[in-house]
Amino acid sequence: MIADETIADEMTVEQMSAQIKRLAAEKNALILVHNYQIPQIQALADILGDSLDLARRSVQATQPVIVFCGVRFMAETAKILAPDKTVLHPCPDAGCPMADMVDLEGLRALKARHPLAKVVAYVNTNSDVKAEVDVCCTSSNAVKVVEGIDADEIIFVPDCNLASYVQRFTEKKIIPWAGFCPVHRRFTVAEVKAVRERYPDALIMVHPECDPEIIDIIDEVASTNGMVKLAQSSDRKQFIVGTEEGLIHRLQRENPDKEFYSLGSPKVCPNMKKIQLIHVLQALQRDQYQVQVDATIARRARKALDEMLNYV
Ligand code: 13P
Ligand code: SF4
Repeated sequence: MIADETIADEMTVEQMSAQIKRLAAEKNALILVHNYQIPQIQALADILGDSLDLARRSVQATQPVIVFCGVRFMAETAKILAPDKTVLHPCPDAGCPMADMVDLEGLRALKARHPLAKVVAYVNTNSDVKAEVDVCCTSSNAVKVVEGIDADEIIFVPDCNLASYVQRFTEKKIIPWAGFCPVHRRFTVAEVKAVRERYPDALIMVHPECDPEIIDIIDEVASTNGMVKLAQSSDRKQFIVGTEEGLIHRLQRENPDKEFYSLGSPKVCPNMKKIQLIHVLQALQRDQYQVQVDATIARRARKALDEMLNYV
């Protein structure tokens, strides 16, 4: 076993990846990886997926240890859904700025102003907020969750763009929180117009975290796994991808006969890129960093997450 960081520093990518795989097998650890992670981390994945898929796989896992390569709310979600497992998050400072945009006091005040409303939280929220809501959702089941919940008024936190996307498909009144993803907000209408001119035959697909003016003029809106399915099933040969650039690597690798381009300049989520091979190696060597969620918060948040998993 490599116990010394200096030795780890001198290893090639292949050696380090092989060492991680060996350690993961020794410890019977499942490596879950989000679609935005860097290519070397994607290559380690037992399961590579979007947030809903990874949440579901955490529940189904038979291994006692999960190494979660994604941002913190995803690792906490795995721990809440699989409390008996050891969940390791290799970089605990990899958070999601959008998740930090909701504060409990503000949410409670909004609930008090709308006593008949139920609260739907995008899974991109911190655990204490999940504990305060009726049900969670991800970008791949948000419309179904809102339609399925027993209320005509829905407070939707934190992403105002996902809220406005859902509003297009429901008669219910959505009361949005003013949060947003700083990465997806950088896509522009001018970028859409430019790619349409340059690649007139391409399918333009974007994440629902993009601004409504973008959603109005593109071809498809999907979660990251939704884009993987679109790329596989479509007859098109060229695709314009309006989400974090890590997904483009996966799309190109899985569809070598098709072409994938970022919508405008590549958009990078710095938090998703924090996890490097050395962090995963150290996570397995040192059993770090173990995700812990306060028991009361976890019990309440679990209800909202279990409910989310009823919506495929
Ligand atoms: P997905 O659930 O589509 O993977 O999205 C997660 C995310 O953080 C988008 O920015
Ligand atoms: Fe959060 Fe946006 Fe990064 Fe997704 S891309 S993790 S929503 S900051």
